[in-house]
Amino acid sequence: MRRGSLLLLVVLLLAGCRTNDRSAPALYKRYCARCHGGQGEGAPRPNKMYPYLKLLASPMIQQGDRAAVRQQIVEGEGPMPSFRRRLSPPEVEQMIDFVLGLPSRKAGS
Ligand code: HEC
Repeated sequence: MRRGSLLLLVVLLLAGCRTNDRSAPALYKRYCARCHGGQGEGAPRPNKMYPYLKLLASPMIQQGDRAAVRQQIVEGEGPMPSFRRRLSPPEVEQMIDFVLGLPSRKAGS
């Protein structure tokens, strides 16, 4: 019985990976979290070289500078690739909302 439900869980998780979830949190996980961390915390060693990998500390995010964040996502910069081809314009706007909301979500959690 327990093994059965475990198997079911695994199947559901695998199915979940295949669904094409284009919500901002899912897209953030897919495209941004590997560099910026699941909650915008970055990663300890890379943060030394690129302090704003920690998005929570980023001035443009703290100031809510949508234009700067938009440019960063669309154009990329340095090691960060451009997401022009991977995110549609409305998805970019949702992603901006999402990353601008990271600090308050962090504080609330
Ligand atoms: C390959 C790693 C990588 C990926 C993937 C990546 N970034 Fe970045 N990102 C960087 C680096 C490196 C910087 C520069 C940090 C610095 O200058 O200190 C940066 C900077 C930024 C900044 C600007 C911070 C500032 O104040 O200068 C924002 C905003 C940002 N990324 C958002 C995103 C979003 C949203 C995604 C996903 C769509 C994403 N990044 C994906 C590596 C990445």
